[in-house]
Amino acid sequence: MLRSGLLEASLPVVGAPMAGGPSTVALAGAVGGAGGFPFLAGGYKAAGALADEIGLVRRFGGAFGVNLFVSGSGGVDEAAFRAYAAELQLEAERYGLRLDPRPVVDDDDHWPEKLALLLSDPVPVVSLTFGLPRARDIAALRRAGSRVLATVTTASEARAAQEAGVDGLVVQGTAAGGHSATYDPARPLTPIATRDLVLDVRAAVDLPVVAGGGVDGPEAVRELLHAGAEAVAVGTLLLRTEESGASQTHKDALADPAFTQTVITHAFTGRPARGLRNGFIDRHDASAPFGYPAIHHLTRALRQAAAKAGDADLLHLWAGTGYRSARDGSAAQVIRHLTEGL
Ligand SMILES: Cc1cc2nc3c(=O)[nH]c(=O)nc-3n(C[C@H](O)[C@H](O)[C@H](O)COP(=O)(O)O)c2cc1C
Repeated sequence: MLRSGLLEASLPVVGAPMAGGPSTVALAGAVGGAGGFPFLAGGYKAAGALADEIGLVRRFGGAFGVNLFVSGSGGVDEAAFRAYAAELQLEAERYGLRLDPRPVVDDDDHWPEKLALLLSDPVPVVSLTFGLPRARDIAALRRAGSRVLATVTTASEARAAQEAGVDGLVVQGTAAGGHSATYDPARPLTPIATRDLVLDVRAAVDLPVVAGGGVDGPEAVRELLHAGAEAVAVGTLLLRTEESGASQTHKDALADPAFTQTVITHAFTGRPARGLRNGFIDRHDASAPFGYPAIHHLTRALRQAAAKAGDADLLHLWAGTGYRSARDGSAAQVIRHLTEGL
């Protein structure tokens, strides 16, 4: 059992939530079966699809978490948006697509429906990313019997989460793959090692911490536990496993020597995220405006077409700095390797 009992698992490793395909029910089952703590990714899904996954993951019999996006309205500079839409239209021609040049600035990712689902049919753990909901939503989830974790990227976000009444924190360093959980997506991220962020957060608040970002092997796990995390979250290292639902293009790119680094970019969605540096980032990062969800919706059809065509030059290939250590094989092998010698 983990130190503070925040998460029920025999090993201090969390299969991090990864929306957009990678987090499957099979991956959650494999992580839980190996002794880690699994998450379902509720982001981008309708409440009904999430309910189906919860039903399936319950059959494994172990504890698990559900991750939700706390996104709402987010503005965008209209002129910059129009210029970016025109720039991307040239890319879209390749696929015979016409991008919609009207910005979508409201997208709550079905928060009310998913909250209602989790209140009527509670799960052991709910984790939140991209911000904090109303304190009364957190209180309602806790009353329903869930432990509530907020993802934070700074000590001040950790203080806000503590004030909002969460049970614990997921501390995400800037080495993490995928979107940053930052509450302020228009703020350029200040690079910080996950270990240092854990120390900052633990000095600022008195809450149990799960830490993630850049984990590339057992040494990194030990370092984060030593810094005071009760468990370590891994995303990128699970992406290439057989249970991961990442696309074959994404899995292959992670192992392709042609991709030589990861970078943080807002070119795909208007919100900073770390991925393999590819042609799309090189062509558009400098001109892309900040603004989620507007840029996310603008590029969505293009990314879907690129995914269908297996076009790694145009696709968002989310990856943390540890991507070179992402192996194929089973998720259980990854969990066992990460906890060797603990
Ligand atoms: C493909 C991908 C999708 C992700 N989607 C989510 C998500 O839906 N919700 C979330 O809280 N974090 C998401 N993350 C971040 C992870 O939960 C976690 O913080 C990160 O993977 C840890 O860093 P690492 O990738 O270096 O292991 C995602 C990460 C990746 C790589």
